[in-house]
Amino acid sequence: MRKPLLRRALSLAAATVLGLSLAVAVHPERAFAAPGPSFTNPAVDVPNSADPTLTYYNGYYYYVATTWSSDVVMRRSQTISGLRGAAEQVVVRTGGNTMWAPHLEMINNRWYLYYSVEQSGGARRTHVAESAGTDPLGPYTIRGILNLMPNNGWAIDAAVLKLNGANYLMFSAFAPSDNLQSLYIAPLTNPWTAGAFGTRISAPTLSWETQNGAVNEGAFALQRNGRTFITYSASHCNGPNYKIGMLEYTGSNPLAASSWTKSLNPIFQRSDANGVYGPGHHSFFTSPDGTETWIAYHANSSASQGCGTTRTTRVQKISWNADGTPHLGVPAALSTVQPGPSGEPNATPVEIRNRHSNLCLDDYNFVTTPGAEVRQWTCSTATVQDWYLTPLADGWYQISNRHSGLCLDNKDFATAPGSVVQQWTCNGLAVQQWRITSVGSGYSTLTNRHSGLCLDDYNWGTSPGAEVRQWTCLNNNAQHWRIA
Ligand code: AHR
Repeated sequence: MRKPLLRRALSLAAATVLGLSLAVAVHPERAFAAPGPSFTNPAVDVPNSADPTLTYYNGYYYYVATTWSSDVVMRRSQTISGLRGAAEQVVVRTGGNTMWAPHLEMINNRWYLYYSVEQSGGARRTHVAESAGTDPLGPYTIRGILNLMPNNGWAIDAAVLKLNGANYLMFSAFAPSDNLQSLYIAPLTNPWTAGAFGTRISAPTLSWETQNGAVNEGAFALQRNGRTFITYSASHCNGPNYKIGMLEYTGSNPLAASSWTKSLNPIFQRSDANGVYGPGHHSFFTSPDGTETWIAYHANSSASQGCGTTRTTRVQKISWNADGTPHLGVPAALSTVQPGPSGEPNATPVEIRNRHSNLCLDDYNFVTTPGAEVRQWTCSTATVQDWYLTPLADGWYQISNRHSGLCLDNKDFATAPGSVVQQWTCNGLAVQQWRITSVGSGYSTLTNRHSGLCLDDYNWGTSPGAEVRQWTCLNNNAQHWRIA
């Protein structure tokens, strides 16, 4: 039962703080956040969620990741919060098997997907496909295998480095001299041709690079203010100590190991306190307005998990140290509610007001944990009554709360009239997909994709705290909502 006193006290406190903080500001209208819709990780859930490449282009985020199948699949979304529910589309049928770590890169107005597969019993090698135009969704033509190591040798985790007007391919391979899985770099004479075999620029020699197995892989370039960093994953992915290290370009020849200086310590690693293990195999992307740099990485939620399909994609904003090096921080807990990247579209929240009760859909008692209740309360500008509508495929919407970062959810996949509505970690499932159907006069019904039932002012409540349930769609005022 809600403690009205608590709610009012919180509201009063919030209003007081707001009043003080806005003493010199204009009238506290509903804040239209520059940040995007709030979200919680994982940004993309299993199974195709390891080794993510996430890039922002022309109004959409485009996402690819390891599939373990013979296909490269891609999804896109206008917001990070909508990524998990976005439909997967097959963009390349590789003809190989267990596709790993696709890397998406635009070169000369064409998109290139670099990925590794095994083929007809041969070594796992890096293949590349080229888009027909500037649409990351393709169509793609496979341009073949890159000849990166002698004797058609094993080579994975390719990613492009653009430096001083030339293109290079970073990748991971076993060094013939010591069999250490190391970072290599090869010149590209064109996006699908290596001009020479790769040269080694980093081997796993420091102790933090050799836990559960000595590995350097998953390289990704990061450049800022004329400085070039190669960030990469170290130690073996089959344990919790997989982490991110960094090289800086300090020489004059990208193909020479001597041109790269390795940081003595990792820059991103497990956080037992936050329940994040083996964070790595990442990519970086910028916010839609270009003001922020974010990291997308995979991680496990248990120290006992490894390189399989338990690894989910998480994203968080990075910052920069005073010395100009990237500061990746600590991997965030899955419960952390994050504002979306700055400049995302649809970042204007709406209120959802019931026609019969004239009350607003509300994150009851400011809860931010999965299972949080949804009730109706006296309409206000509080963020618990701010909802983000994220368009999904086929006209369905994800509806997420600005305060909790959680999604409006048909609890326990119910289908009977009276079924409960809750807030749950956004997962893109049908229970969190809603169809908004106008009924005229500025009102709409909201129908759940799984239950087929309508969002309903339960028992015609009219007092703050009135329940919200799902009911057979009757098109009455209890099921009419003004979304604005
Ligand atoms: O996830 C498959 C492979 O495992 C990736 O290519 C590599 O980075 C990781 O070790």
